[in-house]
Amino acid sequence: MRVFISAFFFIAIFSYAVAYDPLDPNGNITIKWDVMSWTADGYVAVVTMNNFQMYRHIMTPGWTLGWTWAKKDVIWSIVGAQTTEQGDCSKFKGNVPHCCKKDPTVVDLLPGVPYNQQFSNCCKGGVLSSWGQDPAASVSAFQVSVGLAGTSNKTVKLPRNFTLLGPGPGYTCGGAKIVPPTTFLTPDHRRKTQALMTWNVTCTYSQILARKNPSCCVSLSSFYNDTITSCPHCACGCQDKRNCVKPNSKILKSVGINTPKKSNAPLLQCTHHMCPIRVHWHVKVNYKDYWRVKVAITNFNYRLNYTLWTLAIQHPNLDNVTQVFSFDYKPLVPYGNINDTGMFYGLKFYNDLLMEAGPSGNVQSEILLQKDKNTFTLKNGWGFPRKVYFNGEECLMPPPDAYPYLPNSAHKNLLISFSKLISSLLFLFIVLQ
Ligand SMILES: *[C@@H]1O[C@H](CO)[C@@H](O)[C@H](O)[C@H]1NC(C)=O
Ligand SMILES: *[C@@H]1O[C@H](CO)[C@@H](O)[C@H](O)[C@H]1NC(C)=O
Ligand SMILES: *[C@@H]1O[C@H](CO)[C@@H](O)[C@H](O)[C@H]1NC(C)=O
Ligand SMILES: *[C@@H]1O[C@H](CO)[C@@H](O)[C@H](O)[C@H]1NC(C)=O
Ligand SMILES: *[C@@H]1O[C@H](CO)[C@@H](O)[C@H](O)[C@H]1NC(C)=O
Ligand SMILES: *[C@@H]1O[C@H](CO)[C@@H](O)[C@H](O)[C@H]1NC(C)=O
Ligand SMILES: *[C@@H]1O[C@H](CO)[C@@H](O)[C@H](O)[C@H]1NC(C)=O
Ligand SMILES: *[C@@H]1O[C@H](CO)[C@@H](O)[C@H](O)[C@H]1NC(C)=O
Repeated sequence: MRVFISAFFFIAIFSYAVAYDPLDPNGNITIKWDVMSWTADGYVAVVTMNNFQMYRHIMTPGWTLGWTWAKKDVIWSIVGAQTTEQGDCSKFKGNVPHCCKKDPTVVDLLPGVPYNQQFSNCCKGGVLSSWGQDPAASVSAFQVSVGLAGTSNKTVKLPRNFTLLGPGPGYTCGGAKIVPPTTFLTPDHRRKTQALMTWNVTCTYSQILARKNPSCCVSLSSFYNDTITSCPHCACGCQDKRNCVKPNSKILKSVGINTPKKSNAPLLQCTHHMCPIRVHWHVKVNYKDYWRVKVAITNFNYRLNYTLWTLAIQHPNLDNVTQVFSFDYKPLVPYGNINDTGMFYGLKFYNDLLMEAGPSGNVQSEILLQKDKNTFTLKNGWGFPRKVYFNGEECLMPPPDAYPYLPNSAHKNLLISFSKLISSLLFLFIVLQ
């Protein structure tokens, strides 16, 4: 038993260490440097960030990218982004670099900067959509002119120690690797050009690095049982309990209460779970060939609107989704033929913004599923999801023994037969006396 348990923990820790997400095994953010020209003292590169994660995006205030130069490299200029600090450029006379730090930190520009400071795919305030939701918006790019650097593919030294915040911690980046040079099509699609040199960096996300506690939880209900199985107690840790606000508190009427803080500290509604997000799954109707589920997401943070939110769900019947009302839906196919995971997201301009806590702080949908006659059952909590992720963060489920059970399910039968056994023993006992 002990061997089994330690093996289990080993596997659990191991899977966290390699940042493996079973519902999105290939998810990563790739940062690509394409050297477009060599200059007198360095090079000009286009840096492109691609979010290949199916359902994890980068929300405002956006990404922050850092690295360490291998030599005394400086950044003469950047187009489409900027460094947060210039650093000490005192040894330069006349032409002063944009940044002289050994470990520059780069952020995106905000939308609406003058045209001459823009670069294609720049200036989105660092927001990157998830690949599953909008591949075209899942890319960010800027151009950097590097000086005091190598001036050929033999002498250039790749930057090291890449770091990515998105916007909080959680990403780990590998080393830069030289890859085959990127090819580009000219605008008229009649000619191909290629980068002089290309290197890639891959960053992966791990929830355990990002936060100690979950940031969302799941509650369950059904038409066949009055019990509402609520989120586990203190599902997201109860550290913020002292500062939480009751939903009818007068404080909520004061001006500026919803203004986000620089630290992004939440202002949570008081709940027994203390999660900023709750996902509720209700098994609503059982038809002959179909069944219907209602899903609702509730925001309990008074200081945050969730833009471009995503919900990823694993359930064995998601291979036969017939209709999804008022959300967009896309099946995810993590392992070739297994087909039990899908992502939901808001309809543009309708409910793709999950508003701050309060009367408008929720979005909901109904899902119609065609029954798979071989597996469909209402018994043993089969109708409830196996895994739920909100914005790429895994939500804490209630323990299976607390699920709303079908009145005559095996779970109850066992109890009944047990109590029958006890009463007949008692009966026997009384009779024999
Ligand atoms: C990064 O993601 C892409 C797209 O899913 C995948 O092709 C690539 O193999 C991944 N890279 C690594 C190092 O996992
Ligand atoms: C390098 O990154 C780009 C995306 O930025 C990706 O398309 C390409 O496949 C990557 N190359 C390798 C060899 O990983
Ligand atoms: C460097 O460039 C030369 C041609 O200029 C090319 O033959 C060589 O393969 C390149 N090496 C690398 C590592 O890209
Ligand atoms: C990279 O980071 C590690 C740990 O943070 C540090 O020990 C190492 O010196 C850094 N390398 C460079 C080139 O800065
Ligand atoms: C959320 O969005 C609404 C409408 O755009 C805005 O009035 C409100 O201030 C926003 N709340 C936060 C916390 O940003
Ligand atoms: C998964 O299910 C969807 C919806 O039923 C279907 O369109 C898709 O072809 C299936 N994919 C695989 C790999 O079975
Ligand atoms: C899903 O539905 C299709 C008909 O739309 C059916 O052919 C297929 O067998 C169903 N798959 C499962 C696993 O029930
Ligand atoms: C409803 O589910 C709860 C929780 O599993 C269970 O304790 C209860 O017995 C069920 N109600 C009925 C009528 O079976």
